[in-house]
Formats: sequence, structure tokens, C-alpha cells
Amino acid sequence: MAKLNVKVGDLKLRNPVMPASGCFAIEYSEALDFNNLGALVIKSVSPKSRAGNPTPRVAETPSGMLNSIGIPSKGLDYYRREVLPPYTRYDTPVVVSISADTVDEFAQAVAEMSLPEVAVIEANISCPNLEADGMAFAMDPDTTYKAVSAIRRHTSHPFWAKLTPNASHVAVVAKAAEEAGADGIVMGNTMLGMSIDVRTRKPKLGNVMGGLSGPAIKPVALRMVHQCYRSVHIPIIGCGGIRCAEDAVEFMLAGATAVQVGTASFIDPGVMQKIIDGLHAYCDEMGVERISELTGQVKLDRQLTDRWLRFAQQSG
Ligand SMILES: Cc1cc2nc3c(=O)[nH]c(=O)nc-3n(C[C@H](O)[C@H](O)[C@H](O)COP(=O)(O)O)c2cc1C
Repeated sequence: MAKLNVKVGDLKLRNPVMPASGCFAIEYSEALDFNNLGALVIKSVSPKSRAGNPTPRVAETPSGMLNSIGIPSKGLDYYRREVLPPYTRYDTPVVVSISADTVDEFAQAVAEMSLPEVAVIEANISCPNLEADGMAFAMDPDTTYKAVSAIRRHTSHPFWAKLTPNASHVAVVAKAAEEAGADGIVMGNTMLGMSIDVRTRKPKLGNVMGGLSGPAIKPVALRMVHQCYRSVHIPIIGCGGIRCAEDAVEFMLAGATAVQVGTASFIDPGVMQKIIDGLHAYCDEMGVERISELTGQVKLDRQLTDRWLRFAQQSG
């Protein structure tokens, strides 16, 4: 049997499969053995209590879904007392995801959540920066650099920066995150979208616009993982539309060290175990001894690659 273990920086994972933040909850333990997953990534928490966005908060789209859940939160004390403990009972690294409104709030929250039982902090810098007209931190390399370096100064815990596919120069944003001290990149969050009910003429989401996820975004997310892989040396966790082992392999070949599964778990709460089993089957069929060998191993024609790179640098 192939070895599925991978290393994301210094963190050892038994396999590269973990949930995407917000698409996983403790109740999933009824459908999955959490001791079989690579890591447990919890729904983002924000330091300030808030209610989340207006309803309706989800709408189905062809090959995906739109959501505008927001980050409903009861604050960090409640989170530490009530939300975190059940996840720490498993023999699987716990990833705490943090969203915040300002650079200082991010840094303080990360410092507060740098607890011994937390293996990694994921900073959801795809969320709006209220100091910059609500544009997501990761839309821009400068705000990314500011947020990530402030976080780095406040924690010695491993931390990953979760980027947004809504940025036009993701490779440059990823580089800024690396230079500011992130230990890994999660590429990425949802893509901004909209849907209208043609009978009522109203937007299907209470918040008008929301994040598109699921198979519809997979080719975009895959392309961005590859662009980030060419831009940074820190590990990349691929995320966007993954629903089977072959999808996960594609992300690894594009440059991901590990993968996160989001929307697919809403359709089948047991899908991550199926992906892990499928990775074993793929490795056996293809004679792959260690899955970690796959990272970045997409076969590219050298000349084409140089031409494509020049184009990608010009057009973002
Ligand atoms: C209902 C829902 C809630 C989400 N909540 C969060 C969240 O709290 N924090 C976060 O970083 N990403 C959140 N996401 C984004 C996912 O983690 C993931 O990045 C995105 O959905 C793309 O992956 P997928 O296509 O596999 O779902 C959410 C996505 C959905 C669909």
C-alpha cells in the first residue's frame, strides 16, 4: 500500500485530505472517523460577536453553490470553551481558522488562539478588510503583506494564509504572504458570484452577492494553485471544487502538498474517506509509492511553459 503521509512545512499529516473551513462540523463524526483524516479544519471564528449575513444565505447553482453565510461568531472565549475542545479529542492535528476585520484584530486573535492543542492557525485573509473599504485583505499584495507580517509577529505557531481567487494577481499575493512569514498558502476561498430569481426579480441571496464553490470553480482554483506553486517555496494546500480522489491528485500535480474538501461534503458527508481510499487505489494503479512524490509533477512542455509564464506575468 502506498504511503499517503505528507509534510506541510514541519507538520506531519497521515494523509493530504482535510476539510475546508465552514464545510465541516463536529457532527460529521457520525459519517467519518476523524482519526483517518489528515487534519481537522474548523469553521472560521472572528474575535467580535456577530450574527452573520441576512437570509437566504445559500443558493444552488449549476455544478456548485453560492453562500453568504458570513462569519457568525460568539467570540473567542466561547469558541475556546465550547467549539474547540471536541475537535482536540482526536489523534489528528486541529487547524483553527480565524477571520478578522482589521490587521490588529487579526494579530490579536491569532495570538490568543495560539494554544498548545492547536496545530495550525489558518488566517482567512479572504475576508473583508474594514480598514480598506471592505476589500478582502488578500485582494492586494500590500494589504496581504501587512496582515501576514502582523500575524507573524504575534505567533510562533505554524500559520497558513487562505487566499481569495477574486484577486487578479494571486501569484503576487502568494509571494507577499510568503515574504511576510506565512508557513503555507491555502488556495483558495470562494469566487464572488450572484444569482437572480427571474420570477420575483430578487437576488437569491439576502446579501445580493456571495461566494461560489463546488466543481464549478475547480479549474480556476487548480490554475491558481499552479500559479502559486511557480511563485512560492512554502507549501500550498489546494481547495476549490474537489469531490473525488482524481480531483485531489490533479491539485497535487499542479503543486499542492495537501487538499481541502468543502462543498462536496454537503452532498456526501463521508466523501473525504472515499477520497482517501481513492488515493490509495490511484497510487496502487499508477505504481506511486509515496503520494508526496506527486506534488508539482504535472508534465509541461518547457517552451510552452516559458511562453505561458510570460503571458501569465503580463495578464496576472
Ligand atoms: C457554506 C460555506 C461556508 C464557508 N465558510 C467558510 C469559513 O468560515 N471560512 C473560510 O475560510 N472559508 C469558508 N468557506 C469556503 C470554503 O472553505 C472553501 O474555501 C470553498 O468553499 C471552496 O472549496 P469547495 O469548492 O470545495 O467548497 C465556506 C464555504 C461554504 C460553501
